[in-house]
Amino acid sequence: MSKSTNIVWHDSKVTKQDRQEMNNHRSAVLWFTGLSGSGKSTISVELEKKLYELGVRTYRLDGDNVRHGLNNNLGFSPEDRTENIRRVGEVAKLMADAGLITLTAFISPYQQDRNNVRQILAEDEFIEVYVKASVETCEQRDPKGLYKKARAGEIKGFTGIDAPYEEPTNPEIVIETDHQSLEDSVQTIIDYLKDHSYLG
Ligand code: ADX
Repeated sequence: MSKSTNIVWHDSKVTKQDRQEMNNHRSAVLWFTGLSGSGKSTISVELEKKLYELGVRTYRLDGDNVRHGLNNNLGFSPEDRTENIRRVGEVAKLMADAGLITLTAFISPYQQDRNNVRQILAEDEFIEVYVKASVETCEQRDPKGLYKKARAGEIKGFTGIDAPYEEPTNPEIVIETDHQSLEDSVQTIIDYLKDHSYLG
């Protein structure tokens, strides 16, 4: 709910359309969602490198990074996670307006929060990428040692252990990192972008 009153939108003379034409690709938000350790960040980093090589203007927003700055006043309660995703959605919307393909890597455990981001973006701009891996797999990988801490009760409300993760009901792309290689995962997304005319 907005607290500001007496504010008036001021338009630019350079439009999103202009920027997309200059870039020779469409704006989009690749929204990676999945458990901690599922592979969201790893895939988004590799994908960004590939897109860069293809001449695509990108930017990556990653949960752990954004929580160091813009969202460093938020924790992991349901309310804070919702606010985390709301802010990231708004930033991604600005980046879409700037003509970029943004790659976001957040657990984003609630379907409603992800739907809200979809709704503030233009038609077809939001591409939900479900990075699917079982809790068992993520716990085995445990790259940051956080599952171990959660099991030991040192972290409360850890997603997949004692906090929920709502699987996407209708994602545009599903990557199964239990079986798919990193290279294959990246290619799946590149193919999707090409097949749906996001890339010039
Ligand atoms: S989200 O739920 O609000 O979308 P976000 O993606 O920003 O989460 O941050 C998740 C990262 O924070 C995890 O990869 C992990 O490194 C760290 N983390 C710390 N505490 C928790 C927790 N209670 N639940 C999940 N992740 C946590």
